[in-house]
Amino acid sequence: MPETSIKLEGFTESVIRMMTRVANEYGAINLSQGFPDFDPPPAILDALAKAAYEGPHQYEVTWGSQLFREKLAAKQTRLMGIEIDPDKNIVVTCGSTEAMMTAMLTVCNPGDKVVVFSPFYENYGADAILSGADPVFVPLVPPTFTFDPAVLEAAIAGGACGDHAGALTDKAGAKALILCNPSNPSGKVFTKEELETIAALAIKYDLFVITDEVYEHIVYKPYKHIYIASLPGMAERTISCSSLSKTYSITGWRLGYVIASEAVISGAKKVHDFLTVGAPAPLQKAAVTGLEFGDDYYESLLDEYTRKKNLFLGGLDEAGLTYYEPQGAYYVLVDIENINPFETDGEYCLWLAKNVGVAAVPGSSFFKEDVNRYIRFHFAKKDETLRAAIERLSVLKNEKYSSTSFK
Ligand SMILES: Cc1ncc(COP(=O)(O)O)c(C=O)c1O
Repeated sequence: MPETSIKLEGFTESVIRMMTRVANEYGAINLSQGFPDFDPPPAILDALAKAAYEGPHQYEVTWGSQLFREKLAAKQTRLMGIEIDPDKNIVVTCGSTEAMMTAMLTVCNPGDKVVVFSPFYENYGADAILSGADPVFVPLVPPTFTFDPAVLEAAIAGGACGDHAGALTDKAGAKALILCNPSNPSGKVFTKEELETIAALAIKYDLFVITDEVYEHIVYKPYKHIYIASLPGMAERTISCSSLSKTYSITGWRLGYVIASEAVISGAKKVHDFLTVGAPAPLQKAAVTGLEFGDDYYESLLDEYTRKKNLFLGGLDEAGLTYYEPQGAYYVLVDIENINPFETDGEYCLWLAKNVGVAAVPGSSFFKEDVNRYIRFHFAKKDETLRAAIERLSVLKNEKYSSTSFK
């Protein structure tokens, strides 16, 4: 038998999606994979029903329907404060997942270094390896998840590149940096000062910043989302990836996008075309309704998630659990250092799903460093689901679960 690609050795299957299967197996409440159990806005569903009868049902323009791109350009120009031409600066993709992969394949040569903050959303490791790049990790240090600018600069500037077979690069430092803001799993929202530090280094060392901003509308007060593309000198070198998945509660529709300079987008159009041909045509049509929503929609989305955050964190308090309050996104990292009698966070998550009936993701799957003390829950769920999870988790405050006796 011929062998499969050596690239596969660089990453495991998704631990997040594996935990969803575990949740299903044990009938646990699934607070692992981040997707809502409530419906999208009714206006979007009405538009979907209409699109079912009126179409389109065939291939759209590969880089996205004209109307979708025009509405998206209008919305993001307003929010990001940069000029976005619907024909030159956008590719519509199958979610931010494809947007990130497209961005990486568009700019990376085999052997290029790509800087990734750790903890990180697990796709980035695989994105780097599949695009032939070498990820270099920079720690975001709990409890504030801040980075040391000197460590970041060393990661960007230093080290030999292209030391593996087939490397093509002649670039001395990193080619790109991946910035997940607001961040999954930590819930960190990067401050203006931090973004300015990153921007200054990106300009100094001539690198792309590839953003993943899928939680751009879920930033809790008083924190604010700042698009790094909006900082001076950054529009040209930022490749902004995001999606409609979280903003309109349509993770299954697979609609995302890349916004970047005309030069990058002309490359990204080619990559995207050969990867997927295009995002689903009738869903693009229906989602235009969401792109036209006014500010009141985004305000009520945030109010809802603020309420859910407070409800769930209140439940964690009652269960006596220690956690980091998120500034954005809809995840919370819980510290299990003092309650985990097993060797690993993975074993604790399996035990929790099977015996307590709540599924979480082992934090170690997000860290490059050897960190075993966190598990991640998400709270994008109906209140009744969250209340049921809280009730189940409340057993953790019982003495028998706080000792090693429950193993
Ligand atoms: C940081 C981050 N990026 C991307 C995604 C996936 O987004 P999409 O559904 O747009 O592919 C997720 C989903 O959980 C995420 O947390």
